[in-house]
Amino acid sequence: MMKQLENFTVEENIALNPYCFLLKLVSNVSLKDIKAGQFVNIEVKDIQDRILRRPISVHDVDYEKNILYLVVQKIGKATNKLSKIKKGESLSIVFPLGNGFEIKGQKPLLIGGGVGTAPLYLLAKKFYDKGIEPKIIIGARTNEQLFLTNRYNALGQLSISTEDGSVGEKGLVTSNTLLQSDFDIIYTCGPTPMMKAVALFAEKNNKPCYVSLENRMACGIGACLCCVNENKDGHNVCVCTDGPVFNAKEIW
Ligand SMILES: Cc1cc2nc3c(=O)[nH]c(=O)nc-3n(C[C@H](O)[C@H](O)[C@H](O)COP(=O)(O)OP(=O)(O)OC[C@H]3O[C@@H](n4cnc5c(N)ncnc54)[C@H](O)[C@@H]3O)c2cc1C
Ligand code: FES
Repeated sequence: MMKQLENFTVEENIALNPYCFLLKLVSNVSLKDIKAGQFVNIEVKDIQDRILRRPISVHDVDYEKNILYLVVQKIGKATNKLSKIKKGESLSIVFPLGNGFEIKGQKPLLIGGGVGTAPLYLLAKKFYDKGIEPKIIIGARTNEQLFLTNRYNALGQLSISTEDGSVGEKGLVTSNTLLQSDFDIIYTCGPTPMMKAVALFAEKNNKPCYVSLENRMACGIGACLCCVNENKDGHNVCVCTDGPVFNAKEIW
Protein backbone atom coordinates (compact mmCIF):
# COMPACT_ATOMS: atom_id res chain seq x y z
CA MET A 1 0.00 0.00 0.00
CA MET A 2 1.12 3.57 -0.70
CA LYS A 3 2.41 5.43 2.33
CA GLN A 4 0.16 8.28 3.38
CA LEU A 5 0.71 11.45 5.34
CA GLU A 6 -2.48 12.35 7.21
CA ASN A 7 -3.66 14.36 10.17
CA PHE A 8 -5.31 12.28 12.86
CA THR A 9 -7.46 13.77 15.64
CA VAL A 10 -6.85 12.74 19.22
CA GLU A 11 -10.06 11.25 20.59
CA GLU A 12 -8.57 9.98 23.85
CA ASN A 13 -5.25 9.95 25.69
CA ILE A 14 -5.41 7.53 28.60
CA ALA A 15 -2.65 6.80 31.13
CA LEU A 16 -2.29 3.00 31.34
CA ASN A 17 0.32 2.92 34.11
CA PRO A 18 3.03 5.34 35.34
CA TYR A 19 5.04 4.79 32.13
CA CYS A 20 2.66 4.18 29.23
CA PHE A 21 -0.36 5.83 27.67
CA LEU A 22 -2.91 4.83 25.06
CA LEU A 23 -3.71 7.16 22.17
CA LYS A 24 -7.01 6.75 20.36
CA LEU A 25 -6.63 8.58 17.04
CA VAL A 26 -9.36 9.14 14.48
CA SER A 27 -8.65 9.50 10.77
CA ASN A 28 -10.73 10.80 7.87
CA VAL A 29 -9.19 8.23 5.56
CA SER A 30 -9.56 4.46 5.51
CA LEU A 31 -7.06 2.44 7.57
CA LYS A 32 -8.05 -0.85 5.97
CA ASP A 33 -4.60 -1.69 4.61
CA ILE A 34 -2.77 -1.46 7.95
CA LYS A 35 -1.34 -4.85 8.97
CA ALA A 36 -0.42 -6.11 12.43
CA GLY A 37 3.27 -5.44 13.12
CA GLN A 38 3.45 -2.31 10.96
CA PHE A 39 4.27 1.04 12.48
CA VAL A 40 3.56 4.74 11.97
CA ASN A 41 5.86 7.75 12.11
CA ILE A 42 4.40 10.52 14.29
CA GLU A 43 5.38 14.17 14.18
CA VAL A 44 6.05 15.69 17.59
CA LYS A 45 7.43 19.14 18.26
CA ASP A 46 10.07 19.28 21.00
CA ILE A 47 10.41 22.08 23.53
CA GLN A 48 12.58 24.07 21.09
CA ASP A 49 9.81 23.51 18.53
CA ARG A 50 11.98 21.32 16.34
CA ILE A 51 10.01 18.69 14.53
CA LEU A 52 10.79 15.12 15.45
CA ARG A 53 9.20 12.07 13.89
CA ARG A 54 9.04 9.00 16.04
CA PRO A 55 8.19 5.41 15.07
CA ILE A 56 5.38 3.78 17.07
CA SER A 57 3.87 0.35 16.42
CA VAL A 58 0.24 -0.11 15.55
CA HIS A 59 -1.44 -1.49 18.68
CA ASP A 60 -4.95 -1.86 17.29
CA VAL A 61 -7.12 -0.61 14.45
CA ASP A 62 -10.89 -0.18 14.28
CA TYR A 63 -11.22 -0.67 10.52
CA GLU A 64 -14.89 0.36 10.47
CA LYS A 65 -14.50 3.61 12.39
CA ASN A 66 -11.00 4.50 11.07
CA ILE A 67 -9.49 4.55 14.54
CA LEU A 68 -5.83 3.86 15.24
CA TYR A 69 -4.68 2.88 18.73
CA LEU A 70 -1.08 3.32 19.90
CA VAL A 71 0.54 2.45 23.21
CA VAL A 72 3.47 4.72 23.96
CA GLN A 73 6.07 4.60 26.71
CA LYS A 74 7.50 7.86 28.03
CA ILE A 75 11.24 7.62 27.39
CA GLY A 76 12.57 10.98 26.21
CA LYS A 77 11.70 14.27 24.54
CA ALA A 78 9.09 13.26 21.98
CA THR A 79 7.27 10.61 23.97
CA ASN A 80 7.00 12.82 27.06
CA LYS A 81 5.63 15.65 24.92
CA LEU A 82 3.19 13.27 23.27
CA SER A 83 1.97 12.05 26.66
CA LYS A 84 0.49 15.52 27.25
CA ILE A 85 -1.52 15.71 24.04
CA LYS A 86 -5.22 16.41 24.54
CA LYS A 87 -8.51 15.38 22.99
CA GLY A 88 -9.21 17.42 19.84
CA GLU A 89 -5.55 18.11 19.00
CA SER A 90 -4.20 16.82 15.73
CA LEU A 91 -1.16 14.70 14.88
CA SER A 92 0.59 14.36 11.54
CA ILE A 93 1.26 10.70 10.89
CA VAL A 94 2.96 8.77 8.07
CA PHE A 95 1.53 5.26 7.66
CA PRO A 96 1.59 2.36 7.13
CA LEU A 97 5.31 1.63 7.47
CA GLY A 98 7.29 -1.61 7.56
CA ASN A 99 6.43 -5.13 6.54
CA GLY A 100 4.28 -6.35 9.44
CA PHE A 101 3.64 -9.91 10.62
CA GLU A 102 2.63 -12.70 8.26
CA ILE A 103 -0.23 -14.66 9.81
CA LYS A 104 1.17 -18.21 9.83
CA GLY A 105 0.74 -21.36 11.89
CA GLN A 106 -2.20 -22.95 13.66
CA LYS A 107 -0.86 -22.82 17.22
CA PRO A 108 0.90 -19.48 17.61
CA LEU A 109 2.73 -18.39 20.73
CA LEU A 110 3.09 -14.61 21.15
CA ILE A 111 5.74 -13.31 23.56
CA GLY A 112 5.87 -9.63 24.47
CA GLY A 113 8.15 -7.74 26.81
CA GLY A 114 7.31 -4.30 28.21
CA VAL A 115 5.92 -1.86 25.65
CA GLY A 116 6.95 -4.38 22.96
CA THR A 117 3.74 -6.19 23.88
CA ALA A 118 1.78 -3.41 22.14
CA PRO A 119 1.99 -4.64 18.49
CA LEU A 120 1.12 -8.20 19.52
CA TYR A 121 -2.45 -7.13 20.30
CA LEU A 122 -3.52 -6.64 16.68
CA LEU A 123 -1.65 -9.84 15.77
CA ALA A 124 -3.58 -11.77 18.45
CA LYS A 125 -6.81 -10.27 17.11
CA LYS A 126 -6.01 -11.38 13.54
CA PHE A 127 -5.54 -14.97 14.76
CA TYR A 128 -8.67 -14.77 16.91
CA ASP A 129 -10.70 -13.55 13.92
CA LYS A 130 -9.49 -16.65 12.02
CA GLY A 131 -10.81 -18.89 14.80
CA ILE A 132 -7.37 -19.45 16.36
CA GLU A 133 -6.82 -18.49 20.00
CA PRO A 134 -3.13 -17.72 20.43
CA LYS A 135 -1.09 -18.42 23.53
CA ILE A 136 0.31 -15.16 24.87
CA ILE A 137 3.13 -14.56 27.34
CA ILE A 138 3.56 -11.01 28.61
CA GLY A 139 6.68 -10.11 30.52
CA ALA A 140 7.37 -7.04 32.66
CA ARG A 141 9.65 -6.04 35.47
CA THR A 142 6.75 -5.41 37.86
CA ASN A 143 2.94 -5.21 37.72
CA GLU A 144 3.27 -1.42 37.35
CA GLN A 145 4.56 -1.94 33.79
CA LEU A 146 1.66 -4.10 32.62
CA PHE A 147 -1.15 -2.66 30.50
CA LEU A 148 -4.48 -3.83 29.07
CA THR A 149 -3.85 -7.45 30.08
CA ASN A 150 -7.59 -8.23 30.21
CA ARG A 151 -7.86 -7.29 26.52
CA TYR A 152 -5.10 -9.78 25.63
CA ASN A 153 -6.69 -12.37 27.90
CA ALA A 154 -9.95 -12.06 25.93
CA LEU A 155 -8.20 -13.20 22.72
CA GLY A 156 -6.30 -16.26 23.89
CA GLN A 157 -4.55 -18.04 26.72
CA LEU A 158 -2.56 -15.42 28.62
CA SER A 159 0.25 -16.02 31.07
CA ILE A 160 2.15 -13.17 32.73
CA SER A 161 5.73 -13.23 33.97
CA THR A 162 7.01 -10.46 36.23
CA GLU A 163 10.59 -10.27 37.40
CA ASP A 164 9.53 -9.42 40.96
CA GLY A 165 6.62 -11.91 41.02
CA SER A 166 4.07 -9.13 41.73
CA VAL A 167 1.71 -10.67 39.14
CA GLY A 168 1.73 -14.07 37.46
CA GLU A 169 4.84 -16.22 37.43
CA LYS A 170 8.03 -14.86 38.97
CA GLY A 171 10.90 -14.63 36.52
CA LEU A 172 11.62 -13.93 32.87
CA VAL A 173 9.36 -14.88 29.95
CA THR A 174 11.90 -17.55 29.02
CA SER A 175 10.99 -19.48 32.16
CA ASN A 176 7.20 -19.12 31.75
CA THR A 177 5.43 -22.49 31.95
CA LEU A 178 3.44 -21.75 28.75
CA LEU A 179 6.69 -22.44 26.86
CA GLN A 180 6.17 -26.12 27.74
CA SER A 181 2.82 -26.19 25.90
CA ASP A 182 2.14 -27.14 22.30
CA PHE A 183 2.81 -24.41 19.70
CA ASP A 184 4.04 -24.31 16.10
CA ILE A 185 5.32 -20.73 15.67
CA ILE A 186 6.58 -17.91 17.89
CA TYR A 187 6.18 -14.16 17.41
CA THR A 188 8.05 -11.86 19.74
CA CYS A 189 8.57 -8.16 20.39
CA GLY A 190 10.37 -6.57 23.30
CA PRO A 191 13.85 -5.73 24.54
CA THR A 192 16.61 -7.19 22.31
CA PRO A 193 18.11 -9.51 24.99
CA MET A 194 14.64 -10.96 25.58
CA MET A 195 14.03 -11.50 21.86
CA LYS A 196 17.46 -13.11 21.45
CA ALA A 197 16.70 -15.52 24.32
CA VAL A 198 13.30 -16.33 22.79
CA ALA A 199 14.92 -16.89 19.37
CA LEU A 200 17.45 -19.27 20.94
CA PHE A 201 14.64 -21.18 22.65
CA ALA A 202 12.78 -21.43 19.31
CA GLU A 203 15.90 -22.66 17.53
CA LYS A 204 16.53 -25.34 20.16
CA ASN A 205 12.92 -26.47 19.81
CA ASN A 206 13.03 -26.32 16.03
CA LYS A 207 10.18 -23.82 15.75
CA PRO A 208 10.01 -20.79 13.45
CA CYS A 209 10.37 -17.47 15.28
CA TYR A 210 9.55 -13.98 14.03
CA VAL A 211 10.98 -10.99 15.85
CA SER A 212 10.05 -7.33 15.57
CA LEU A 213 13.12 -5.09 15.90
CA GLU A 214 13.00 -1.59 17.33
CA ASN A 215 16.24 -0.07 16.04
CA ARG A 216 16.54 3.69 16.29
CA MET A 217 15.00 5.26 13.21
CA ALA A 218 14.63 8.63 11.58
CA CYS A 219 13.01 8.70 8.14
CA GLY A 220 11.13 5.39 8.40
CA ILE A 221 11.13 5.02 4.60
CA GLY A 222 14.55 3.60 3.75
CA ALA A 223 16.22 6.91 2.91
CA CYS A 224 18.58 7.76 5.80
CA LEU A 225 20.04 4.29 6.51
CA CYS A 226 20.22 5.00 10.24
CA CYS A 227 18.29 1.82 11.08
CA VAL A 228 20.51 -0.62 9.18
CA ASN A 229 21.11 -4.00 10.80
CA GLU A 230 23.66 -6.57 9.73
CA ASN A 231 22.18 -9.95 8.90
CA LYS A 232 23.81 -13.22 9.97
CA ASP A 233 25.21 -13.63 6.45
CA GLY A 234 26.80 -10.15 6.56
CA HIS A 235 24.14 -8.65 4.30
CA ASN A 236 22.72 -5.29 5.47
CA VAL A 237 18.97 -4.89 5.98
CA CYS A 238 17.03 -1.71 6.53
CA VAL A 239 14.84 -2.33 9.58
CA CYS A 240 12.25 0.29 8.60
CA THR A 241 11.52 -1.10 5.13
CA ASP A 242 12.76 -4.73 5.11
CA GLY A 243 11.45 -5.09 8.69
CA PRO A 244 10.72 -4.41 11.47
CA VAL A 245 9.64 -8.09 11.42
CA PHE A 246 12.32 -10.65 10.55
CA ASN A 247 12.70 -14.39 10.71
CA ALA A 248 15.01 -14.69 13.74
CA LYS A 249 17.29 -17.20 12.04
CA GLU A 250 18.13 -14.61 9.35
CA ILE A 251 19.47 -12.06 11.81
CA TRP A 252 20.88 -13.89 14.82
C1 LIG B 1 9.51 0.03 14.51
C2 LIG B 1 9.46 0.65 15.89
C3 LIG B 1 8.30 0.52 16.64
C4 LIG B 1 8.21 1.09 17.90
N1 LIG B 1 7.04 0.96 18.59
C5 LIG B 1 6.91 1.55 19.79
C6 LIG B 1 5.66 1.49 20.49
O1 LIG B 1 4.68 0.90 20.03
N2 LIG B 1 5.57 2.13 21.67
C7 LIG B 1 6.64 2.82 22.21
O2 LIG B 1 6.50 3.39 23.28
N3 LIG B 1 7.84 2.87 21.58
C8 LIG B 1 8.00 2.28 20.38
N4 LIG B 1 9.19 2.38 19.72
C9 LIG B 1 10.31 3.12 20.35
C10 LIG B 1 10.08 4.61 20.18
O3 LIG B 1 10.19 4.94 18.82
C11 LIG B 1 11.13 5.39 20.99
O4 LIG B 1 10.93 5.13 22.35
C12 LIG B 1 10.98 6.88 20.74
O5 LIG B 1 11.37 7.18 19.44
C13 LIG B 1 11.79 7.67 21.74
O6 LIG B 1 11.65 9.02 21.41
P1 LIG B 1 11.91 10.15 22.49
O7 LIG B 1 12.12 11.45 21.77
O8 LIG B 1 10.88 10.12 23.55
O9 LIG B 1 13.26 9.68 23.16
P2 LIG B 1 14.73 10.26 22.86
O10 LIG B 1 14.83 11.56 23.62
O11 LIG B 1 15.01 10.26 21.41
O12 LIG B 1 15.58 9.13 23.54
C14 LIG B 1 15.54 8.87 24.96
C15 LIG B 1 16.32 7.62 25.28
O13 LIG B 1 15.70 6.47 24.69
C16 LIG B 1 16.59 5.79 23.83
N5 LIG B 1 15.84 5.36 22.65
C17 LIG B 1 15.16 6.13 21.79
N6 LIG B 1 14.60 5.40 20.82
C18 LIG B 1 14.95 4.13 21.03
C19 LIG B 1 14.73 2.91 20.35
N7 LIG B 1 14.02 2.81 19.23
N8 LIG B 1 15.26 1.79 20.89
C20 LIG B 1 16.00 1.85 22.01
N9 LIG B 1 16.25 2.97 22.67
C21 LIG B 1 15.75 4.10 22.21
C22 LIG B 1 17.65 6.82 23.48
O14 LIG B 1 18.88 6.20 23.16
C23 LIG B 1 17.73 7.65 24.73
O15 LIG B 1 18.57 7.05 25.68
C24 LIG B 1 9.32 1.80 18.45
C25 LIG B 1 10.49 1.93 17.70
C26 LIG B 1 10.57 1.36 16.44
C27 LIG B 1 11.80 1.52 15.64
S1 FES C 1 14.90 4.97 9.34
FE1 FES C 1 15.79 5.92 7.62
S2 FES C 1 16.43 4.21 6.47
FE2 FES C 1 15.36 3.29 8.11
